Amino acid sequence: MSTVGIIGAGNIGTNVAKAAIAAGHDVVIANSRGPETLSDLVEELGSGRAKAVTVEDAARAGDFVVVAIPLKSIEDLPKEPLEDKVVLDANNYYPQRDGRIAVLDANLATTSELLQKHLPHSHVVKAFNHINAKDIPRDGQPAGTEDRRALAIAGADPGAKAVATAFLDTLGYDAVDMGDLSESWRIERDTPGYGARLNADELSETLAGTERVHQV
Ligand SMILES: NC(=O)c1ccc[n+]([C@@H]2O[C@H](COP(=O)([O-])OP(=O)(O)OC[C@H]3O[C@@H](n4cnc5c(N)ncnc54)[C@H](OP(=O)(O)O)[C@@H]3O)[C@@H](O)[C@H]2O)c1
Repeated sequence: MSTVGIIGAGNIGTNVAKAAIAAGHDVVIANSRGPETLSDLVEELGSGRAKAVTVEDAARAGDFVVVAIPLKSIEDLPKEPLEDKVVLDANNYYPQRDGRIAVLDANLATTSELLQKHLPHSHVVKAFNHINAKDIPRDGQPAGTEDRRALAIAGADPGAKAVATAFLDTLGYDAVDMGDLSESWRIERDTPGYGARLNADELSETLAGTERVHQV
């Protein structure tokens, strides 16, 4: 079992933490306001496996790190403590929240490529972006279960994708590899696979048939 660093303690961060703890991992979780603001969450998570820390400490202590903050805030992430780490990126682009981002509007980049650009020495893997946060702790099933839910991943580094795949498996999900981060538009907001509960075959087929549309 691993120590999972989680940066962002909102919908995604909290629910990844719940699922990770249920699977036997330890969690170090951070938000923008400091660990003292997360005491209720740590109590709710229970089990002694969750610790509230600073962003830097979550980055350093995690065997790998889940980034679960709004896209508009990714440039706040510290580079040095995330160097050489596997970084799982749950981000989506919502212009009403994040402001307009020209390269995304023009389909010249994916959200995860923006994070990879900000963290050039980390191994970014897209993960968790297309499942409703609340479903993460409740939809997982043991490996081999018929119709097990699958989640899409993408990234440049096979070793990092193996880490993501193994983590998802412990939470109860199959992983479907979309290829490089440049392919992760296939599961960004408003695509057919976004939010849908699909098994691995269904998700692979859906991703293959997805057409790239302009952001609105
Ligand atoms: N909600 C979903 O079901 C869902 C599903 C898939 C993907 N996503 C994507 O995942 C990302 C996070 O979404 P969410 O719904 O979890 O957001 P959220 O509920 O608004 O939580 C955001 C968290 O990020 C923290 N944060 C913000 N800026 C930060 C910074 N600079 N450093 C450290 N922590 C920071 C916030 O801390 P403070 O409160 O202290 O500011 C808060 O804990 C978004 O890109 C979203 O589109 C969401």
